[in-house]
Order: sequence, then structure tokens, then C-alpha cells
Amino acid sequence: MSRRYDMDRRAYIKTIGAGGAVAAFAGCTTDDSSSSNEEIVPGTASGFPPFELTRDGELVGFDIELAEAVIDEAGYDHAEWTDIEFASLIPSLSQSEDIDMIAAAMTITDERAEQIAFTDPYYEANQAILVRAGGSIQPEEQEDLSGVEIGVQSGTTGENLAEGLIEDGIISGNNLSVYDNYTLAVEDLTSELIGAIVIDTPVARDFESNRDVAVAFTIPTGEQYGFGMRQDDDRIEDINDALATVRENGTYEEIANEWDVL
Ligand code: ARG
Repeated sequence: MSRRYDMDRRAYIKTIGAGGAVAAFAGCTTDDSSSSNEEIVPGTASGFPPFELTRDGELVGFDIELAEAVIDEAGYDHAEWTDIEFASLIPSLSQSEDIDMIAAAMTITDERAEQIAFTDPYYEANQAILVRAGGSIQPEEQEDLSGVEIGVQSGTTGENLAEGLIEDGIISGNNLSVYDNYTLAVEDLTSELIGAIVIDTPVARDFESNRDVAVAFTIPTGEQYGFGMRQDDDRIEDINDALATVRENGTYEEIANEWDVL
């Protein structure tokens, strides 16, 4: 079922690609910048299942499919994905312009919104404390993390939360390990190098389902994910319209069901 959906979509993308020259020409006549606004280069940070992960060497996940569906629906062509560290996404979008769009389960925050523009929200999440399943470290609230070695991914809201634990005197700076990605942190958790991880709830649930780890408790942060674009990129309007369309026409639900994030 999901595979069939994938193949159909790929065929569709190829068709768009073949006719791209015509659309690109049409785009140029109305665009006052020198570049065509036809192609969107999406960027992500894999190792964040089920939103973005590599499977058999291929980048897959809820964000990957949703972003491609939205870009297609908006009438643009999506270029090949750039897969980099989470902390490099905003500089790659807004400074080097290596990518045109971030699709990385990125929480919309005021601080980030100073540097990039966010689309309308497309997903809601909280933070979870992930520990070894059946291990001796079983915290029930934030205070219980006192003295526990904590792991987070660099540049995430989970890292911000852990910094808050340091400020509140619950853990010390030495207790915090910052990783390039959460997959590495989970490996260190199962091999007992750290005692707990602060991570988005749906990703914690995914690790819980296929690693020897468990959610100890959650922290209601009320985060909303948005796709990121450059602040001067007008295409965000088309992307927002397309996001609303895929939510209405059932495409969002189909992809969300496929990745079990509903
Ligand atoms: N939602 C969190 C944040 O925005 C974590 C996102 C991590 N995403 C990823 N693709 N590794 O900070």
C-alpha cells in the first residue's frame, strides 16, 4: 500500500520534471530576481524517526513525504534532498542558501523566526525523557534527573530544555552530553554511557518501539513543527496554500498513517 503510493508519486514527480522547462520559463517572466523560482532544494537532518531516517540507504519519513507532497502541490519541483546536521540547517538555509526549505521536525520558535520564516504549523509535539527499559534510572519528574547524565541533540529544543535543568541547578554542566544526532544518543543510552535523553515525544515513542528504551515521563512544551524558508522567499505563500490543500484532500492523513504519527 505505502510502496504503491511511493511509486505513483515518483512517477508523478518525473512527469513534472520533464515538463519543467515550460513552467520555469513561465516563472521567469513574472519573477524580478535573476533565479528561476521553479525548484526547491529541501534539507533535513536524518536520524529522527519517523520524521526523517535512512532506510536501506534511502532517506524516508513523514517529513520527507509530506514536504515532497506539499512542494508538488504548490507547483514546484523538488530537487534532491540535502541531509545535514540539525544545527547546520538554519545557516544552510539563510546564509549559504544551499537549501531552500527545512523539513526536519523543526519547532517554530521566536528565536529561530528571527533568522528564517516558518510555514503554518503541520505537527504538534512535546518533550519526553527517554531512559533504558527496566533500568535503575526511572525518573518521574524533572527534579529526579538530579545527577543523571543527560543526552540531547545539538541545536534542538531538547537541548534548550536540558540547559534549563542546568540553570535550575538540577543537573550540572558536566552532566550534559550534546550529540550531532539522536541516534548516537540512543546508542549511548543503551550502552549505559548516559542515563536519559530529552527528545520530542513522537520520536521517543518510535525509539521505544524498536530499541531497549522507554519513555519515563513527558514534559508538555506544546511545540509546533513548521517548514522553514528564507524570509525573503515569496514561495512560502504557495507552500502554505499547498499545506492546507494536502490536509483537506486526505494526503496528509495518508502519509501520517503510513508513518504512524496520527
Ligand atoms: N523539534 C525539535 C527542535 O525543533 C527537534 C528537531 C530535531 N529534528 C531532526 N531532524 N533531528 O528543536
